[in-house]
Amino acid sequence: MEIARTVERRFACEDGDLEPGESMTVPGDVAVALYRNEHGDYFATADTCTHEDWSLGEDSDLEGNEVVCPLHMARFDIRSGEALCFPATIALQTYEVQVDDGKVYVLA
Ligand code: FES
Repeated sequence: MEIARTVERRFACEDGDLEPGESMTVPGDVAVALYRNEHGDYFATADTCTHEDWSLGEDSDLEGNEVVCPLHMARFDIRSGEALCFPATIALQTYEVQVDDGKVYVLA
């Protein structure tokens, strides 16, 4: 039987701390990668690349709404988590992002 995890609203950063095109890791029980695309919109996925053990929040390249893992160049859509090219074949879990009173939160 699978035991459901409680979703927690986790403070990530102040709105504006993350420049468009940047990402960061939000630590916690489940590490989350928070991205800000070139339009200033926030998205969040699991921090660890589904190919191997690499932190996308700490080190990746954001191109539009795609994150590129620099280790073996897998690409993911940060809106859906979809794996867009080999060697990654498994999607990233995505998480809701909320901006509230100048603070950015992830629900994970
Ligand atoms: S660890 Fe990300 S593509 Fe291999």
